[in-house]
Amino acid sequence: MDTDLARRVPCGDLDLPDAGRRVLLLGWVHRRRDFGGLVFLQVRDRSGIVQVVFHPEAGEIHALASSLRPETVVRVEGEVIPRSGETVNPEMKTGKVEVRAESLEVLAETDELPLQPAGAQLPHEETRLRWRFLDLRREPMQEALRVRHEVTRAIRETLHAEGFWEVETPILTRSTPEGARDYLVPSRVQPGRFYALPQSPQLFKQLLMVSGVERYYQVARCFRDEDLRADRQPEFTQVDLEMSFAAPEDVQAVTEKVIAAAAAVAGWEIEAPFPRISWREAMDRYGVDRPDLRYGMEIADLTPEVAESPFVVFRGAVEKGGVVRGIAVPGGGAWSRKRFDGLTARAKELGAGGLVWFRWTAEGMKSPALKALGEEEARRVASLCGAGEGDAALVVAGDLSMVRRVLGELRVEIAREEGLVPEGRHAFCWVVDFPLLEWDEEEGRWFACHHPFTSPEPADLDLLETDPGKVRARAYDVVLDGVEIGGGSIRIHRPDVQQRVFRALGIDEEEARERFGFLLDALRFGAPPHGGLALGLDRLVALLLGRESIRDVIAFPKTTSASCPLTEAPSPVDPAQLAELGLAIVRREE
Ligand code: AMO
Repeated sequence: MDTDLARRVPCGDLDLPDAGRRVLLLGWVHRRRDFGGLVFLQVRDRSGIVQVVFHPEAGEIHALASSLRPETVVRVEGEVIPRSGETVNPEMKTGKVEVRAESLEVLAETDELPLQPAGAQLPHEETRLRWRFLDLRREPMQEALRVRHEVTRAIRETLHAEGFWEVETPILTRSTPEGARDYLVPSRVQPGRFYALPQSPQLFKQLLMVSGVERYYQVARCFRDEDLRADRQPEFTQVDLEMSFAAPEDVQAVTEKVIAAAAAVAGWEIEAPFPRISWREAMDRYGVDRPDLRYGMEIADLTPEVAESPFVVFRGAVEKGGVVRGIAVPGGGAWSRKRFDGLTARAKELGAGGLVWFRWTAEGMKSPALKALGEEEARRVASLCGAGEGDAALVVAGDLSMVRRVLGELRVEIAREEGLVPEGRHAFCWVVDFPLLEWDEEEGRWFACHHPFTSPEPADLDLLETDPGKVRARAYDVVLDGVEIGGGSIRIHRPDVQQRVFRALGIDEEEARERFGFLLDALRFGAPPHGGLALGLDRLVALLLGRESIRDVIAFPKTTSASCPLTEAPSPVDPAQLAELGLAIVRREE
């Protein structure tokens, strides 16, 4: 069959060996240039761009070419010719050749463009999302779609080779326990009842283990109604997996293979196994449970060293049972007073009472605490943080969780702003030994750090009733460059243990039955030990491509207010449709 599609040659593939070949191109006019009687069209398709030249003697098609707007869809036939020395374009992959046009046909015209795919300037995000189909023509977006496809494919192949079955689980389901708000879908046939869109396939994958699937995975869409950020979308994709009879190390080894295959697509070579760091160590050394290990600036604990400090901020914090910790900033000795004031304001914004900074230069120490501490003690404190001459040290005193949070945040922000993150370096790690439960001051009760099906460490089981905060979970997160790209755990597979965990969470039997009765049932009928994990595919692809936001690796993402400027979703619905669903809108008083 000799259709156009069968004959067409990808623009981006043309090169010197093609010289002399007659080719058919199908694509878009990327740019047009009229030059000394010649018309140059850059013709673009998914594979890339090639220059097509129209000579005046070509007559009609020359005139037609000179009238074309960018983004017109064209069919071009012509001969590939090598470019002469001075016209070779080393910036272009196909820059050694051009196509001398012999025929030109317009397959589709274009209106005036609201967004120029060939434009050098990045349009405003709102415009990009409103005209997403044009935005996706831009080269970086094409690359994102391609890499995402290849990453997904590599992951599927890896998991297939490891014996996993891809199983689809329902989208119209019941509330799942990931702790965010649900998106609800009203039922028409049962007015007043609702489905919830899954926050993850968690419960279904556990059921599949009870069903004997043994190794499950799914490239699964998840829905969470939560506050959005650069790395959060209301709907996002997980590479979700679960294994029967698995220890954490089994799940981690498979995950490392999956990540290695994905990373290879982006040309990254990675070393497995990834280092493991306990939750406590991560919190103490980096202030967060997703440590960025690409650079140092670790948090130092000064508490025992300053318990009797002449500086009342330090001494007072320790007396109240708090901690005093600090970080060193290489080169911070050159900072201005204004910079330290800015950081102090930032620390307060993050919840600190203040920031005690030390500026160490050849002339000596500068610090708001200098008067109280004296030069020598100030130097000792700064050295304890790891600072030396030419550096700065930043110290925060107070309650443990606040100090961790503030220093953890400052560490990341300063490293980014000061260019202390080594270019081209990437660091994976596993964070393990999470606490099972977390106390919520406001609600006055325990919450599951992951979800209520996470298994406690067997050795800590009896602490569930006596000291719940001390129980460790058999949970693990995988972190890349300070971003949590995945998390999972070994699950509870015994009904009695599940009941005890529910009890610790303040979920009584009736509520447990009501919310998760089907899972509790399943655990009664020969549930194998099992565990798994889910990777955030959007986050992984964004990091592999070095993109700031996951919106840049999702074809049709939502804005930070969870709307879609392209389709204008969410939208009001017809009153008749509401009536059919038995729903009425009640306007909330502002
Ligand atoms: P978790 O809630 O940690 O675990 O989610 C797993 C991974 O999904 C990604 N992720 C998100 N990505 C984009 N937008 C969001 N709103 C968003 N929320 C989460 C993160 C995260 O690490 N069922 C468990 C997994 C398991 O235990 O097997 C779960 O969903 O990269």
